[in-house]
Order: sequence, then C-alpha cells, then structure tokens
Amino acid sequence: MCGIVGYTGNNDACAFLITGLQRLEYRGYDSAGIATLSSDSPRIQTTKVAGRVAQLESALAAGTIRGRLGIGHTRWATHGAATEINAHPHSGGRSVLSLVHNGVIENYESLKTDLQAKGFEFVSQTDTEVIAHLVADHYAQLQAGGEPTVEHCVEAVQTAVSQLRGTYGLLVMFRDFPDLLIAARCGSPLVIGVGKGEQFVASDTSPLVGFADRIVYLADHQVAVIRPESIQVLHRDQGRVRPDVHVLSSDSVDVNMEGFNHFMLKEIYEQPQSIQNALRGRLDRDNATAKFGGLNLTPQQLRGVQRIVLTGCGTSWHSALVGEYLIEELARVPVEVEYASELRYRNPPTDHATIVFGITQSGETADTLAALREMKRKGHHTLAICNVIGSSIAQAADGGIYLHAGPEIGVASTKAFTSQLTVLTMLALYFGRLRHLSFEAGQRVIEQLERLPHLVEQALACHDQVKEIAAHYHTANNFLYLGRKFNFPTALEGALKLKEISYIHAEGYPAAEMKHGPIALVDEHTPSVFIVPQGTVYEKVLSNLQEVKARGGPVIAIVDHDDPQVARLADNVIRIPQVEDFLQPIVASIPLQLLSYEIALLRGCDVDKPRNLAKSVTVE
Ligand code: M6R
Repeated sequence: MCGIVGYTGNNDACAFLITGLQRLEYRGYDSAGIATLSSDSPRIQTTKVAGRVAQLESALAAGTIRGRLGIGHTRWATHGAATEINAHPHSGGRSVLSLVHNGVIENYESLKTDLQAKGFEFVSQTDTEVIAHLVADHYAQLQAGGEPTVEHCVEAVQTAVSQLRGTYGLLVMFRDFPDLLIAARCGSPLVIGVGKGEQFVASDTSPLVGFADRIVYLADHQVAVIRPESIQVLHRDQGRVRPDVHVLSSDSVDVNMEGFNHFMLKEIYEQPQSIQNALRGRLDRDNATAKFGGLNLTPQQLRGVQRIVLTGCGTSWHSALVGEYLIEELARVPVEVEYASELRYRNPPTDHATIVFGITQSGETADTLAALREMKRKGHHTLAICNVIGSSIAQAADGGIYLHAGPEIGVASTKAFTSQLTVLTMLALYFGRLRHLSFEAGQRVIEQLERLPHLVEQALACHDQVKEIAAHYHTANNFLYLGRKFNFPTALEGALKLKEISYIHAEGYPAAEMKHGPIALVDEHTPSVFIVPQGTVYEKVLSNLQEVKARGGPVIAIVDHDDPQVARLADNVIRIPQVEDFLQPIVASIPLQLLSYEIALLRGCDVDKPRNLAKSVTVE
C-alpha cells in the first residue's frame, strides 16, 4: 500500500526520494509525488502524477537540485480517486507545510467541517489534506504572529495527531525550516535511517538499503524531530525517549531481480533456499523435534495449551488452513482458523489455554495486527509467524517465529507461503513431540523436512511444461482448482495466485464439494486443475476428476508418480516429486505458482504489480 520516503541533509533530496519510491513500488500504488525545499527558495516545490514513479521522475526537471530537504509518497487510493490532486504530498494552510500520510483517518469528515468553518479550503477528497490543514491551523495559532520556532512545528504536529482517530504514519516539512522533518506514527510504520550529517525516513526498510546501516523504528504514539545532525524522539505519554538504534539487517539487502524478468519469478526460484533458511538451526535430530528461540513460553506452558487459533489474511490464511491439518494430524491439538478481518470483531468463547498465531509475510496487515491485539487484550499468548523483522506485528506479538525468506517484493506471495508451511510443519512436530508423537515418527518428519529444499528444486523442473500448458489455456475465462485434505488449501492458493495476477476468475474447492454446486460451471471452456498425488484420498479425488471429465471439462492434473489412470483421463499431467501428504502443499504449489505466472505473462499483465492490489494491506 502507500509508501513514504523523506530526506534531510547536504545532498540532493530527490536522488534518495526517487530511488526510495522505486523500491516501494512493490507495495502497490496508483499515484506518486514529492515535495522539496531549498534554503535559498521561499517555497516548497511539489510535483505529483497519477501514475508510476517513472512518470514522476520524467516530470521533475532533469539534473536540477531542488533542495536538500524532501518528502515523497506512493499512494494507493482510499479516499478519492487516483488523481494528481489526490496524490500526496498535500499542503497545509497557505503552503506553510507539506505532508505525506499512510493509513486512514476515521474522523476526517468532522475535522474537515471544523476546518472549513475556519476558512480552510480543500482541493482534494483525501483524509490526508485534513491532517495537513489541521497541523497548519495549530502552527498558526502557536506562532500568534511571532517568530516561528521548531518547537511550534513539533507542538502543532503533536496537537493535531491527538485529534486524529484511525491510523497514520506521517512525515511533515515546514516552509520555515529547510532542514527539518517531523515524523509521527500510530499503526502505520515509519523507519528512520541514521546517516552522517543526513537522515532518511521510509515506511519500510527497503528504501534505506545502501543509504543507512543503522535504523530507528518509530513506535506508536511517538513523534520524531529529524534534522541532519540529530534525531529526537518524543512519546505521547513518556516525553522524550532514547531512540533505539538497530543495525539494518542484511535480509533487507536483496532488492533486485538478479537476471529474472520479474520479482515473482525470482521468488519462485528462490524457494529451495528460502525453505532451507526457514529450517536452518531449527531441527533437533537428537530429540526428534524442532526448536524455536522466540516463542517465549516454557515447554510446560506449551504442554498446557488446549487449543490453537491460527489467523491471517489471503495467502497467509491459506497457510493457516494447512497448519490446521498439520497440527491436528501431528500434534492432536484442536485448531481453529480464522480470517483476521473476522476474528477482530468476533467474540469467540476462548479459554486461557488457547494461544493465537498471526501468520503474515509483511507483518503489517492491518486486520491481522488488530486481531492479534484483540486476542492479546483478552489475555491470550499471541505469536507471530512473520517474514519482516521488526514489523508492527512482530513487535506487537508476545513472541514468534521469523520465516527468514528474505524480502518478498512480488505482490503475489510465493516463497513466503512455502516458508510459512515449512515453519508450521516444524511447529506441528514440536507440539506433537510435547505430546504423543513418538521419537521414530518425529525423526521421519525431520528426514522429510531435510529433503524438502532438494525436492522443491526438482519440482521447478516442470517450468517448460507449464509454459506449454499456459499457452494452451491462457484465454480461458474461468478456472477451477480442486484437491482434498492437505491439498484443499493448496487448491485455494492456486486459485488465488491465478486471479490476482492474471485477472481470470478462479475458484478453489475441496474436490468432493464439486457435486454440491460448482460442477454446474464445468464445460469445455473451463479448465480444472486437480491436485491428485498418492495418499489416503487419492481414489476419492480420482473419482471427482472423472466426474469433471464426464462433463467435458479439460483437466490439468498434478501427480507424484507415473499414473496411468490419471494419464488416461487428464488433458495435461504435471509430475511433482513424491513426499508425505503433509508436505504436498509445498511441492504442489510450485507448478501452480508457475502456471499463474506464465498465464499472466501471456495475457500481458503486470505480474509484480497487479491492478488494485497492494503488497502490505495496511488499511482495514
Ligand atoms: O503480509 P500478509 O501475509 O499479512 O498479507 C496477507 C495478504 O494480503 C496476502 O497474502 C495477499 O493475499 C497476497 N497478495 C497473496 O498473494
């Protein structure tokens, strides 16, 4: 979703702002803008476009240094269409300040009415312009005709944010102070990159890589006063606090495509390595179990857990569904899977022996964050299974497990999904070994997990075949994805991948549910992708496949052995390596990811930045 960058120092602000915005493009956006200020100019210069950062770059006069202070933004439209006027930065007062904002202000209508009554004129439909005028109003009142001071700027921002209801990450610059940035955060992340004689600000760490190696995460209700030589952090309730400086993790460094045409393809091919990274140091062969450093619960406390709630959104919710099968099967602990967007407003009866895992790649998904906070408030131990170190959810949870998958830039989640499943398998093993799972059974799980990176590597060999299949079906308007047991969530995930990047309507179903309705959709133009490896439900899925074939539907089958029965029935057969059923979702996802990618390419879609979607969904 929206992205923020800011710079103050002795260099050309635009150089960092444009690079930073390019690196934030992966989050999804529809307009972009920057504002800069130079000490020898009396006014803030603003350039905005309803379009891509490349257009913004062309719109800026090449080679002109526009100032050594600046803020920039990529906007994903919430209030008001994706137009140049609605793009950020927004001016406050009579251009006394310029401001960028991530998040949503819920009470903006009433604030706007009050400001309009005071004579403020609004040009956009955004909630952000309300904040800009609100800060400007307080700033004017504090000055009361006298000389402006930095303290006035700080107090104006503090007073304005105290009136806001909702979420915000804000960055403000004032016309009167050509080296000052003020940042404020509540629910929407901001990170400061600490430099020598210069400071950088961004809404996640990716823009900071190569510019700063020390960072400060702003926490909720903090305001940062940022100048080239200093950073001062003020907390709403605690006053001035010491900035907590972290080293920028090398995990964040890998932000280029390394010869691949798209981040999504690169990330699909990274999976043998990302799975290896998720496993590293966590398999305990001696005790036939897994080990985790950050659950922050003793084995005794974990032994007392009676129920596990797994929550997340989108692909992470699909991981949770696989997790349910895994934990129930290997550990025999009851599991409930909840959409985070539903859990946050539900009031499920839960006891104190229930723990809650929020599953999230970004660690910034607003619904997952809110659901975890609500469950924590009720007294449950909350844990995050998360990729982004230091993210809001990682900070809010009582403990957790990092995926160590490296940055996932493509909007369609691929490697994060398989890393989530890898971690959930280890978690199921861990809980199982605390209960009934035998040493031998635990060792077998470990052996399977250790082979996994290699098997995923082998699965990638289907790519050329998948290209041919994509060429055959890319004009279809509807797809069905069908599987059972562990591969029901695999089917859901396959369908989601296809619809989000190729815009083809796709439905995932438990294969047996077909006959209760969706089979009416089957015709010669609607391909069905069946996930039909060997296992307890193999025969059942085969019957479902026959039902589709009998109605003239084309079938693409994913199998894990030379299967003459399936070969006779299916139009296309993709072979994946054989694994135990609980690892099939990981291996079977590889051809499904590649299929969506190739179909999207053939349809001319923007694979890494699909329309209307954002990488981190930071609004409700
Ligand atoms: O960062 P999160 O895992 O919390 O994100 C949740 C969903 O927004 C995300 O999985 C989304 O569905 C992806 N675009 C799927 O590819």
